[in-house]
Amino acid sequence: MVRKQVGILISGRGSNMAALIEAARAENCAYEIACVISNRPDAAGLRTARQAGIATIALDHKTLGTREALDAAMHDALLVNGVDLVVCAGFMRIMTGGFIAKWEGRIINIHPSLLPLFKGVDTHEQALQAGVRVHGCSVHFVSAELDAGAIIAQGVIKVMPGDDAATLAARVLPVEHRMYPSVLNALAEGRIRLENGRAVFSDNEAASLSIAGAD
Ligand code: GRF
Repeated sequence: MVRKQVGILISGRGSNMAALIEAARAENCAYEIACVISNRPDAAGLRTARQAGIATIALDHKTLGTREALDAAMHDALLVNGVDLVVCAGFMRIMTGGFIAKWEGRIINIHPSLLPLFKGVDTHEQALQAGVRVHGCSVHFVSAELDAGAIIAQGVIKVMPGDDAATLAARVLPVEHRMYPSVLNALAEGRIRLENGRAVFSDNEAASLSIAGAD
């Protein structure tokens, strides 16, 4: 089996990245982490990746100056590292349409809400403000519009009385860590693809990677 080469984009802690790295250790995993790129040189996730023996690249968006410059540098780094699939894992920069177009159907993101609800930041706070009774996370293909690409899988938790943003985050995060590696593996196996703005699945298992009622 030729494993698909994955480039992970991060900006911070990198716990989803760590889950993806861990899952890649399995013999039958269809992907391999080729490199981890951060727009923040001090991201804790870069250290974790280095410790796991993975190539890391820091591309400081402040030094690079423009979105175009950051995206061009990321694109080059992804090509140099032979990347097939790009995975955003807590990557906090908006990417240019040009960059996204180059990776269309081959770039995914995980977002801590049940999209299309609560795009952008502070999603757990947004969920509490809205008074929703279930909440969770979504893995989606990245499209030019922020957090609006085709949804691949979702993980659901219940909102309990007394929950605050921190307790919601603490229950959603383990669901992210379970779901993201499975989705990436199915994508790497070619069982999920983007077609006419929708996620299309080649089998029922790939179509049912969502997690309902995780807690
Ligand atoms: C996660 O909640 C992810 O859904 C969001 O940013 C957070 C990143 O956490 N996009 P980590 O860096 O993976 O720990």
